Amino acid sequence: MKFYIIGAGVIARSHAEAIRKLPNFDEIEMKVADPNPQALSGFVERYPDVVTFSDARTMLAEEAKKDDIVVICTPPFTHYELSRMALESGRHVLCEKPLAMNRQEADDLLECARRKNRLLGCCSDRFIGLPKTEEIKRLVQSDAIGDIYKVTFTYRGQRSRAGVEYQPESRWFLDRSKSGGGVVMDWGPYDFAILNDVFKPSSIDIAAAWVSKPQTQADPVNTTYDVEGHAGAMMKYHLDGKTIWVHYERASCTHGKPYHLVEIEGTRGALEWSPYFESDKVICRTDKDGEVVINEKDINNKSDIGVMDHPIYYFYHKVKGEPSPALINEQTVFNFSCLQALYECADTGMLQTVTVGGIQSNPVMK
Ligand SMILES: NC(=O)c1ccc[n+]([C@@H]2O[C@H](COP(=O)([O-])OP(=O)(O)OC[C@H]3O[C@@H](n4cnc5c(N)ncnc54)[C@H](O)[C@@H]3O)[C@@H](O)[C@H]2O)c1
Repeated sequence: MKFYIIGAGVIARSHAEAIRKLPNFDEIEMKVADPNPQALSGFVERYPDVVTFSDARTMLAEEAKKDDIVVICTPPFTHYELSRMALESGRHVLCEKPLAMNRQEADDLLECARRKNRLLGCCSDRFIGLPKTEEIKRLVQSDAIGDIYKVTFTYRGQRSRAGVEYQPESRWFLDRSKSGGGVVMDWGPYDFAILNDVFKPSSIDIAAAWVSKPQTQADPVNTTYDVEGHAGAMMKYHLDGKTIWVHYERASCTHGKPYHLVEIEGTRGALEWSPYFESDKVICRTDKDGEVVINEKDINNKSDIGVMDHPIYYFYHKVKGEPSPALINEQTVFNFSCLQALYECADTGMLQTVTVGGIQSNPVMK
């Protein structure tokens, strides 16, 4: 089995580590392509057995084998061309988030994956499948908190912009024509992967949305910087004949208070947890005789497979036909469409409805 990595930057190293943890690593061959000689040599210093190429097309020219996987680890503006080339070469593709720059590209990739009978995966599944979130799913399905009517998904960082405070050497994060957008394209893929995995909506209405670019005195100059650092949306999730309001907010830059809150409120109780790094607590608040009852459980991930290993681990098992929560094909395009619909709603002020079939603009809500 072969893994072909395209792009030898920061995230490629974490995928290489994940590949080394796969059950049959001894039988896996790894190849990597990057036109930047410094990136390649840095990669090879860490992984001397990897075969290197300066050009991805040359790397993929050899005949494809049944389970070959190409991992796209480049900036978003290259995802479409490279993923398409890799699918056309007859290989499964696991693409870094965001899947593409826009809906058209995502749809084309899905069409190509179907035509070639290959899997199209996205690394936006990095944080799904954690034991604490699986416990939340169990509680949501068990009716433990009654009828769920509202979800709050808020993550507000004050100075955590990719390309400024985080990984300042990768300025492409700040240029919309290269990144596709700011914090919505950077963290939104994970946020929507989690929300959509917990609630499994058949459609989502984005009723209102906004994006903004707060300024700081450390904003980079002499470089294109046109992406948002703060965004939010009010959405209606439709599932199993029920509707749930979801209040979403994400900031990598705000002058307001930094905090996070992920909470699911039902008629008989509420659940709170952190789907990311902050805590492994699952907090359930209910009522007994008119008094608030708080039940807290610590649910750690005891597996050797960490969140940074998830995309490779999940996709590998999916390709092998084994049970896996990997986000692939229609689901991954649906999740990506939520990001596009948020931008579209913020831009036009029109309600956007996301379904598996696409996005519709509507003047009124159903
Ligand atoms: N850095 C992170 O912590 C992180 C985490 C999760 C996901 N990601 C995602 O991973 C992707 C890459 O991010 P990164 O931080 O590794 O970027 P990076 O800037 O560190 O590396 C990108 C690499 O891609 C190479 N590249 C560009 N065009 C190429 C092409 N046509 N063929 C081959 N190589 C090419 C560049 O030379 C560079 O070495 C992005 O989509 C990002 O959102 C990054």
